[in-house]
Amino acid sequence: MPKYRNSINRDSDDVDPLVTRRSFLAMLGVGACILGVSQCTGASFLGFLYPNAMKVPPSIFSIGRPEEVLSLEGKIFNPKQKVFVETMGGKVRVQTAVCTHLGCTVNAVDTGYSCPCHGSTYDRNGLNTGGPAPLPLDFFTIYKGASGELMVDKSKPLKPVDSWFSPVG
Ligand code: FES
Repeated sequence: MPKYRNSINRDSDDVDPLVTRRSFLAMLGVGACILGVSQCTGASFLGFLYPNAMKVPPSIFSIGRPEEVLSLEGKIFNPKQKVFVETMGGKVRVQTAVCTHLGCTVNAVDTGYSCPCHGSTYDRNGLNTGGPAPLPLDFFTIYKGASGELMVDKSKPLKPVDSWFSPVG
């Protein structure tokens, strides 16, 4: 009677191998499972260690040198910071492009701003004119940084009446 099912054709005096093909394949399967589980948990663990705050743009950022900014007459969208930089008559102001309803990015239109998500509308000063958005679009504080560049501080909102900044004045 053979000792192993897969050893029918073997000589009875064969030395039993330390690792059979079956046990080798079983160990390979267990190893693959452990490797797969550790990769999944390792990836999620590394994702846990990587702070989400790194993905959020800083609240203070540069929009460039005054002469560069003022040379761009009109309203320019900054996609990284999600703001509109508007210049007029040697003055500049920066306004958020984030809808106050659920955070979609608004589009500049002839009448002001329009949100593509749920239809909120704002006038040119960012005041609500329709739709579900509960608050106006904020303007942000601008100042000249130490390097001479115009800096925007998103943590300091302004009312529309105070929104224009004159870099040369
Ligand atoms: S997110 Fe703009 S209207 Fe809802």
